[in-house]
Amino acid sequence: METKLFKSEHDIPAAAEILRQGGLLGIPTETVYGLGANALDEEAVKGIFEAKGRPQDNPLILHIPHVDWLERYCENVPKEAYLLAEKFWPGPLTMILPKKDIVPLRTTGGLSTVGVRMPDHRLTLEIIRQADVPVAAPSGNTSGRPSPTKAEHMLEDMQGKIHGIFDGGACRVGVESTIVDLTVTPPRLLRPGGLSLEDLQSVLGEIVVDKAVTEKMKEGEKPRAPGMKYRHYAPKAPVTVVCGEPNKTAEYIREHLQKGNGVICFTEFAPLFEGYATQILGEVSNKHQQAQRVFDALRAFDSLPVTAIYAQCPDTEGLGLAVSNRLKKAAGFCVVEV
Ligand code: TXA
Ligand code: MG
Repeated sequence: METKLFKSEHDIPAAAEILRQGGLLGIPTETVYGLGANALDEEAVKGIFEAKGRPQDNPLILHIPHVDWLERYCENVPKEAYLLAEKFWPGPLTMILPKKDIVPLRTTGGLSTVGVRMPDHRLTLEIIRQADVPVAAPSGNTSGRPSPTKAEHMLEDMQGKIHGIFDGGACRVGVESTIVDLTVTPPRLLRPGGLSLEDLQSVLGEIVVDKAVTEKMKEGEKPRAPGMKYRHYAPKAPVTVVCGEPNKTAEYIREHLQKGNGVICFTEFAPLFEGYATQILGEVSNKHQQAQRVFDALRAFDSLPVTAIYAQCPDTEGLGLAVSNRLKKAAGFCVVEV
């Protein structure tokens, strides 16, 4: 199939039509590019799983253009959901709520709950409004690869497999949405993302951080966000994540680095790794930059002949929790503390 490339406002009706017709459309969001389809159309949703090579039990989240749509797809919406929506939507926050019957089990991977978010991207909000359907959209990468933060990256994975992609520029946030489960008390953080845990706590108070955020799941263990059990975001070469004070992590990497290895490091430490394939994560204190760069850095190594990759890990404050989670997942939790 030919993958059409859309770029201008005038293309919005054609893009919306793809969704209405049950097709697959790459959509820009503030977090990462998504692979969208009508969430209520089982055949269309099946297409998402096929194009990504995604396991059937890994549920999709719904993208809506207005908070009023929540009640169409979710039951027993608690007041906390509205408080969060008011404060953080449109934005990088996905809420897990009980689903209504209208949402097919194929979309939710067989679960009775559904994740919903309102993305903060003008073009995509308009596309969804015009399509007038909720859009199921996982990240637009082939399953297991780093999430795409640019239209070109999504094309690398999806050219010829989807009907179109809307190029809305580079993603502003760079890591996926934060996922909070509101069907349990206290609420539970299932995936750290573009909205910090601290921001969520400011509205919700106590939040339990799911074990899958910081630890590798054991054989047979079931995380609450099914997607968290898969090795993910992984470049082809094995990754080791080095956590601790930045001077120390740089020193550790310098000591262990061998010819042909690659490095993901903070801007300040790049001169130490001259002569090695290096991807810069951002300045030590600039977590926004690190979030924007983390997937591009991981993806860049796929076209470089490196045999192993060492990465400096940020601390877990603010967006650091999401950045460190993505690095650790890319490493299959091969983590060294120094
Ligand atoms: O920022 C984002 O969230 C991006 C953009 C495109 O919106 N989307 C995204 O989707 O990251 P995906 O499918 O790559 O990740 C969604 C995660 C998966 O780990 C999935 O298992 C989990 O959310 N999830 C979805 N529905 C769930 C549910 N009902 N209960 C628990 N976890 C759920
Ligand atoms: Mg994903």
